Amino acid sequence: MSVIMHTLHVDLGERSYPVYIGRDLLADGEVLARHLGGSEVAIVSNETVAPLYVAKVRGALGEGRRVTEIVLPDGEQYKTLHSLEHILERLLQERHSRSTTIIAVGGGVVGDVAGFAAACYQRGVGFIQVPTTLLAQVDSSVGGKTAVNHPLGKNMIGAFYQPRAVLIDIDSLHTLPARELSAGLAEVIKYGLICDPAFYAWLQEAMPRLLAREESALAEAIERSCSLKAAVVAADEREGGLRAILNLGHTFGHAIETAQGYGAWLHGEAVAVGMLLALRLSVARGWVDAAEIPVLEALLRQAQLPLEIPAGMTPEVFLDLMGRDKKVVDGCLRLVLLRGIGEACVVADATTAELDTLLQDAVARAKSRC
Ligand code: NAD
Ligand code: GLY
Repeated sequence: MSVIMHTLHVDLGERSYPVYIGRDLLADGEVLARHLGGSEVAIVSNETVAPLYVAKVRGALGEGRRVTEIVLPDGEQYKTLHSLEHILERLLQERHSRSTTIIAVGGGVVGDVAGFAAACYQRGVGFIQVPTTLLAQVDSSVGGKTAVNHPLGKNMIGAFYQPRAVLIDIDSLHTLPARELSAGLAEVIKYGLICDPAFYAWLQEAMPRLLAREESALAEAIERSCSLKAAVVAADEREGGLRAILNLGHTFGHAIETAQGYGAWLHGEAVAVGMLLALRLSVARGWVDAAEIPVLEALLRQAQLPLEIPAGMTPEVFLDLMGRDKKVVDGCLRLVLLRGIGEACVVADATTAELDTLLQDAVARAKSRC
C-alpha cells in the first residue's frame, strides 16, 4: 500500500508544484491522476528502468487513458538531441495532442531529456517527474532544469521547464546499483556543504544507515535535500544569482565528465571530486579551516566516492573545459566556493594562476595515490 511520508511545495506562483516522498508511490494512481492534464499520457523511460517500473506506473494510470511508452537506450551518452528527436517523433507518430502529459520514469538522464521534450512538444505539455535514482530524487527532478548534452559541453542545450508534480518512491532505490547510490549521496552531501551545517553533521553519523538503504534515513536525507533545493529554486528559479550555489563542485565536475567521455564517470562522482577541489580553493583563500578537508575526505570515502581527479587530466584540459562552462559570463568564470561549512558563495575573481596551482596540486596528489 502506498504511503506519503512527506509533501513539500516548490513555491513558484502559478508554476508551483508538490513533491511527494513516500513508499510504493509508483502504484498510487490517485496521486498521479491529480496532476494529469487529460487522458493522453506518454511515459518516457530507459531500457533498464522500464522493465522494473513502467508496468507499475501504467497500472496506476488505470483504464481509459491513451498511453505511449517511449524507451530510450540507457546512459549519459544518450542524453542527446537525437534522443530528444526520437521522443518528439514518437509523440507525433502517435498523434499526441497538447493535453498530453509526459511522465519521466528513471534517473536524471531520462528526467532531463523527457523534461526538455515536454518543454518543446507543441510549445509545452504537462510533465511529471518520477525519479528512480537517489541523485534524481534529491536534485534533478526538482527545479525545472531540463537539457541534453553536446560533445562541446554538458547540459548546453535545454530549457527551464517545471514539472506539475514530483513523485519520489523510496522503494525504487532497492534496485539501484551501489555505485549509483553513492553518486546520489554526493549531491546530498552538497546540500550540507552549501547551506546546512547541521545536516552535514547528521550525514557524518547517518552515512552507514544511508548506505544500508535504511528507509527512515533515506526519507530524511531526501526530504532535507528537496526542502533545501525547493527553497533555493523558489528564491531564484532561473539562476540569476542564488541558485548557482547548487552547482558547488559542478564546474570542475562537468570538466571531468566531458574530458572522460559522457558516462565514464558518473555525474555524482565527478561532483564529489569537484566539491573537494572547491573546498581546497576555499581553504587556500583562508575562508575555511584546513581541518575541514579531512572531514570532507572521510565523508566522501565513507560514501564510497572518489577523492582524486582522473589520471591523465591536466590543468590545461580543466581550464579549457571550465572556460566553456555555462557559468562563464562575459568571459569571466564563476565558481562556487565556501566561506565556511554551510555558507556557499559565487566568485568571479578566480585567477588562472590560482586555479593552476590548485589543479597542479590535484594532479600531483592523484599521481601519488596511484
Ligand atoms: P542516470 O539517469 O544515468 O541513472 C543512473 C543509472 O541507474 C542508469 O543506468 C539507470 O538506468 C539506472 N537506474 C535508474 N533508476 C534505477 C533503479 N531504480 N534501479 C536500477 N537502476 C536504475 O543518472 P543519474 O545519476 O540519475 O542522473 C545524472 C544526470 O542528471 C546527469 O545527466 C546530470 O547532468 C543530470 N542532473 C540534472 C540536474 C537538474 O537539475 N536537471 C541536477 C543534477 C544532475
Ligand atoms: N543542480 C543544479 C540546479 O538545479 O540548479
